[in-house]
Amino acid sequence: QNRGFSRKSHTFLPKIFRKMSAQSSKDRPENLQFPFLDDDATISTVKESKTVFIIRGLPGSGKSTLARAIQDQYKDACKVISADNYKIIPAIRSSIPEDYSKLDEDLDNYCKRDISVVVVDDTHHERERLDQLFDIADKYQYEVLFVEPKTPWKMDCLQLKDKNQWKLSVEDLKKMKPSLEKDFLPVYYGWFLSKKSSEHLRKTGQAFLDELGNLKAFKKESKYFLPDEDPKIKLDLTGHFAKRPPGVLHCTTKFTDFGKALGADEYAQQEVVKASYGKAFTLTISALFLTTKTVGARLELSEQELLLWPGDVDKILPIDNLPKGSRAHITLGCANGIEPVQTGIDLLEFVKLEKAGNKGDEVEELGGGKLLYFGNGMWMLLLSKKIEVKAVFSGYYGKGKLVPTQGSSKRGSAFNPCIII
Ligand code: 2AM
Repeated sequence: QNRGFSRKSHTFLPKIFRKMSAQSSKDRPENLQFPFLDDDATISTVKESKTVFIIRGLPGSGKSTLARAIQDQYKDACKVISADNYKIIPAIRSSIPEDYSKLDEDLDNYCKRDISVVVVDDTHHERERLDQLFDIADKYQYEVLFVEPKTPWKMDCLQLKDKNQWKLSVEDLKKMKPSLEKDFLPVYYGWFLSKKSSEHLRKTGQAFLDELGNLKAFKKESKYFLPDEDPKIKLDLTGHFAKRPPGVLHCTTKFTDFGKALGADEYAQQEVVKASYGKAFTLTISALFLTTKTVGARLELSEQELLLWPGDVDKILPIDNLPKGSRAHITLGCANGIEPVQTGIDLLEFVKLEKAGNKGDEVEELGGGKLLYFGNGMWMLLLSKKIEVKAVFSGYYGKGKLVPTQGSSKRGSAFNPCIII
């Protein structure tokens, strides 16, 4: 066994070797402490995910140091793309320079190869440029993490003037400053599942749809789903739930609509939201549910996770009074013409029935657990073994529309039994 560079022996190493080993959080200055650099659970979750780190800030604020720290932590699993290397000079400009096409080509290539951590080091002060990055992230199903340097001089143009390598003047820097001072709010905050956890959950969801579609009790109630279907053949539920939200599987905490939604800023300003951004959590899935409109996974949030849960989302009607976290779900699929926001509303309908004393009729034991029927095409599978998934708390920033759940495969193809999403 090679004990050479293990953590324990770290302090006994001569100074020169200490520098060679990855910096631990104790060695790292406070302004370089982030969950994805210091927290073991986050590091292992990021390693099994696909993440684009968008490093954002004024020239000279410490972006490249941050990029290097991420590279040091993730080693071969990480590629850094620095705008500096493409001779892109940070400036306020009327259009995005042509020089970005080579950078984007390299970024596209890394994403195509499923490199788990891709770091883009640039000022990122223009919305138009960010949109180009979000499109690439969506195309390859990467989650996006914004990272800003925490150096004390990050917004001090006088100091930045001496630190930036482009010899930009105080005036130049001041022009760029306002767009970087404002927080950039996502479409929604939430927990984004690692690639590994997503694949596991998709398979479980697919198995549920397959089993349910074959079930006599379900076929008897099929009028809610597929009115014209022949009850003798298997119901193609995968085809029925043909769309899902873009990007990776997620549980929305707060829908912020780029800051325009009610309570968006208040949510984003909370200390717990800021401190949790970029941190990994283990989410517990207790059930899968299905209505005529949506199919999803029901979550049981821990006390710590509930701290990130907004106070106003667990109701359909203003008078509803349901336990905090009742709405917590992951959308797995939507029927034709249904928006994904519906999945949370559907889950709340189940919770309201439960609260009114209707715990559902026990239909039978399926592979994964106990199947309950609530009437009106509302089904729930209580998992006999709860599923734990790894997820990073972050935001979705793109403009992506719903995407097909089945890729390019044919409807219900027997050759694709594992793909639901
Ligand atoms: P969901 O799948 O977790 O329900 C993009 O539209 C995403 O934002 C959807 O996936 C949906 O998340 C969520 N969403 C959209 N509109 C919403 C709203 N008004 N309230 C809460 N979440 C919303």
